[in-house]
Amino acid sequence: MLGWRMKRKTVTTRKGFRILLRKVSLSDIPQIYNIESVSFKDPYPPSLLETLATLNKDTFIVAEYNKKIVGYVIGVLRWDVIGHIINIAIHPDFRRKGIGEVLMREVMAALKKKGATMFRLEVRVSNIPAQCLYERLGFQKVGIISNYYSDGEACYVMVKRDP
Ligand SMILES: CC(C)(COP(=O)(O)OP(=O)(O)OC[C@H]1O[C@@H](n2cnc3c(N)ncnc32)[C@H](O)[C@@H]1OP(=O)(O)O)[C@@H](O)C(=O)NCCC(=O)NCCS
Repeated sequence: MLGWRMKRKTVTTRKGFRILLRKVSLSDIPQIYNIESVSFKDPYPPSLLETLATLNKDTFIVAEYNKKIVGYVIGVLRWDVIGHIINIAIHPDFRRKGIGEVLMREVMAALKKKGATMFRLEVRVSNIPAQCLYERLGFQKVGIISNYYSDGEACYVMVKRDP
C-alpha cells in the first residue's frame, strides 16, 4: 500500500482560520511538550513524544500558525485495522477555531490509508470539550474503564466505524 503522501498543506478551518498541516519532526518536540504541559494533568514526557514521533511518522501530525506549532494529534495503527487516536491537544490560545476538528479528520484519513477500518480513543469522563468534538465527528461511547488515569479518573472508550 502507498504511504501517506501529505508533505505540507494549508487548510482553512470551518471557522475561517488558516493553518498549515504537516508530519511531525523530532525538532518539534519542545513546542509540542509545551502544549502538552499546559493541556494535561499527566503530560507525556518528551522522551515518549520522541518515541511516538519516530514510530508513527505518518500519523503524528502538527498544525502550524505563523511558523509556530499550535496543535498536534497522534494516531497509532493497531492490529492493522484499528486507528487508535492516543493524543490531541491545541494550544489554549487557539482553541475553538476548528483546529482540533481538522487534525482529527486528517489523522483519521492518514490511518485509513494505512488500513484502519475503525477508530478508537479514550477520554476522561470530565473532559466535556473533547467528548463534544468526538461526538461531532461521529464517535460513540461504547464503554467506561474505571481508574484509567493515574489520578483515579475513569475514561470513556469511544469508537467510530469507517462508513
Ligand atoms: C479538545 C480539544 C482538542 C478541542 O480542540 P479545538 O481546536 O478547540 O476544537 P474545535 O475548535 O475543532 O471544536 C470543534 C467542535 O468540538 C466541540 N467543542 C470543542 N471545544 C468545546 C468546548 N470547550 N465546549 C463544548 N464543545 C466543544 C464543539 O462542537 C466544536 O464546534 P463549535 O466550536 O462550532 O461549537 C481542545 O479543547 C484541547 O486541546 N483540550 C485540551 C487537551 C485535551 O483535552 N485533549 C483531548 C484528550 S482525550
